[in-house]
Amino acid sequence: MPRFRNIVILTGAGLSAESGLSTFRDPNGLWAKYDWREVATPQGFAKNPTMVHDFYNMRRRAHATIKPNAAHIALATLEARHPNVTVVTQNVDALHEAAGTRNLIHMHGEALKVFCRQCDARHTWVDDLSVETPCPACRETGAMRPDVVWFGEMPYHMERIGQLLGRCDLFISIGTSGNVYPAAGFVAVAREAGAHTVELNLEPSSGATLFAEAIYGPATEIVPAYVERILRDTVSA
Ligand code: APR
Repeated sequence: MPRFRNIVILTGAGLSAESGLSTFRDPNGLWAKYDWREVATPQGFAKNPTMVHDFYNMRRRAHATIKPNAAHIALATLEARHPNVTVVTQNVDALHEAAGTRNLIHMHGEALKVFCRQCDARHTWVDDLSVETPCPACRETGAMRPDVVWFGEMPYHMERIGQLLGRCDLFISIGTSGNVYPAAGFVAVAREAGAHTVELNLEPSSGATLFAEAIYGPATEIVPAYVERILRDTVSA
């Protein structure tokens, strides 16, 4: 019997940093360059949709050159060799999918998805979006927006995430500063459920003291090493 039967992994921007994507709150992060109120809120979009489209067009274009790193690949390997692993990501990039992770929940939406506010049709989208882009479904222009959860909006799949946290026995948080709820509260829910809780990060997050175990360093080093350890426990069990 493997030591851990139900594993939930929360990931944040630090997981994709070594793939070349900016984090948000590091000194040279996105929120040091952009005002999140202008580019990541419904109010900002209403006030200046072109500025918001430009911000997400830049992040969507980055997908043409980025690749999953050793940490993404280690998580996909874990899922392939352990019966019950779910990744809940705050990231809107598509690097978990590119690495092979299937059991994946994008709680903050996806940079490569858009939706129409007129007809609610959802589309995969790799090109630029503008206020002139017609919705492929209803042909309305000016109604398309990134399918990314903005501040003040409800993250996706929260009921399913709550169920997974309530029955996990291992909760691993990777590459997140623990500043944004509800994700920052997941560790407390997992502890409540009796799970072993682990933080893998470059440095202690805001919620560091809530974790039973912590390993610090670059994700491409500490994540593959930790996955190795779990798989050794699983195989030897
Ligand atoms: N390896 C591991 N961790 C790293 C690395 C790395 N190479 N580089 C940075 N980190 C860590 C930082 O130390 C920091 O704790 O990743 C974390 C990134 O924190 P944030 O920039 O705050 O990103 P995140 O926690 O994912 O933000 C959560 O906030 O703005 C919203 O919606 C946005 O999903 C995002 C949410």
